[in-house]
Amino acid sequence: MDSPYTLTRGPDAGEEQRLHNQHYNMWMPVAKQLLPPHIFGGLVKPDHPPAIADLATGTDGYDYDPSKFIEAFELPNNVRLFPGDILKPFPEQLRAQYDVIHVRMLILGLKADQWAEAAQNIKMLLRLGGWLVWEDYGHSGITCVPVTKEFALWSNAEVQYARSVGRDITAPMRLLSQIQESGYVNCHESIYHSFGLPENLRKTTGRLFMAAARQILKGTLDKTESTIVKSHDEVDGIVDKVK
Ligand SMILES: C[S@@+](CC[C@H](N)C(=O)[O-])C[C@H]1O[C@@H](n2cnc3c(N)ncnc32)[C@H](O)[C@@H]1O
Repeated sequence: MDSPYTLTRGPDAGEEQRLHNQHYNMWMPVAKQLLPPHIFGGLVKPDHPPAIADLATGTDGYDYDPSKFIEAFELPNNVRLFPGDILKPFPEQLRAQYDVIHVRMLILGLKADQWAEAAQNIKMLLRLGGWLVWEDYGHSGITCVPVTKEFALWSNAEVQYARSVGRDITAPMRLLSQIQESGYVNCHESIYHSFGLPENLRKTTGRLFMAAARQILKGTLDKTESTIVKSHDEVDGIVDKVK
């Protein structure tokens, strides 16, 4: 797959722990919920048990590689894993099976023209009346105040790579309209941020984001040369100084 994806430096024990920490101590304090309450509340259906698909899931193998799936016996018995490329139509047996599709943090894997393509492929998995919940982040929302020299270097090096591989450097700001244009109705947008959190949580979320930022920029250097940051040591030097 010709993928722009750069979080490809796992898995190892440290990377797995980083991802767990990121879910519990960065994303959940900011988002505060796994699903919007009206969607969660609507999951109890009279005629079938609720079915939820988490696409682009994974806290272990961070590459797109089904051989790194957790073994079935290690999973709760109401969870199953299926291989699937969000940029290809899903197999027949998975179509129209799900009440909720959840997707989180696909930005690193999508080129500019692939957001709508992914939304269209996802639609075929939904039952009538089902919901797509897509959470993502992007450069327009990643900042520090005041912006430091090191933060600007990280950001500009990542944006340089994103642009070179055809990613949308303003994503996910067009996601709502891309979803609407893909035929979804009753669409809503919520914006979360960490600036309103108590200081200790705000610092933790910033630190955890920079742990990801380190891996992202190193993954970028593994794939291409940068005119802004040249080596893994330089990435470490920059990220260590971002507070
Ligand atoms: C940044 S991780 C997010 C993982 C998880 N959703 C979370 O929020 O912690 C991005 C995930 O997208 C997956 N991914 C990237 N490109 C994909 C594609 N074309 N189809 C399906 N999954 C993909 C990667 O394998 C990885 O697991």
